[in-house]
Amino acid sequence: MQNKIVPTDKERVMTADELIVSKTDATGRLTYCNRIFIDYAGYTEFELLGRQHNIVRHPDMPRSVFHLLWATIKSGNEFFGYVKNMSKDGSFYWVFANVTPSYVAGTSEILGYFSVRRKPDLMKLKVIESLYKDMLIAERQAGARDAVGAGTDVLMNVVNATGKDYREFILSI
Ligand SMILES: Cc1cc2nc3c(=O)[nH]c(=O)nc-3n(C[C@H](O)[C@H](O)[C@H](O)COP(=O)(O)O)c2cc1C
Repeated sequence: MQNKIVPTDKERVMTADELIVSKTDATGRLTYCNRIFIDYAGYTEFELLGRQHNIVRHPDMPRSVFHLLWATIKSGNEFFGYVKNMSKDGSFYWVFANVTPSYVAGTSEILGYFSVRRKPDLMKLKVIESLYKDMLIAERQAGARDAVGAGTDVLMNVVNATGKDYREFILSI
């Protein structure tokens, strides 16, 4: 379904009071979406639940960002990042996302993941858009097998130059 959608230039900008919330199982399949998620995604709740979270993936997003997201949350840490998402009609919406693991009560077993997204700062988005473009170019040049490594190198060169780690970098730009 997702691959047939043609991305358009139409943007929907989040308002400051909106939070887009979703929960997934341990494999990234949607188990909960709040009303605002459903509204932005443009699918019905029935179409969303049980589907992989990549249903809203935008082709402009570097693969290496999602690689970092999964590596971070699978190791039990919380991830922060800017994400360009695609609605069912091909339009896009930018979010600043926080993704955290949820545990089976009283254990260290990951039950699933929880994500809350809010409106990104527009000036920060300018930095991110240009960084993601460079990452995407590097990923495409490297080819499918080496894409994640190439995109991650571009990201970490920028992050390392600030003397911060990724988390500090993304929270401070
Ligand atoms: C809780 C949670 C929230 C996520 N939110 C998004 C999201 O808003 N947009 C997105 O494209 N991917 C999101 N992902 C990542 C997707 O699972 C997926 O890795 C990504 O869309 C890339 O798709 P691919 O792995 O098929 O290439 C989320 C994952 C989790 C666990």
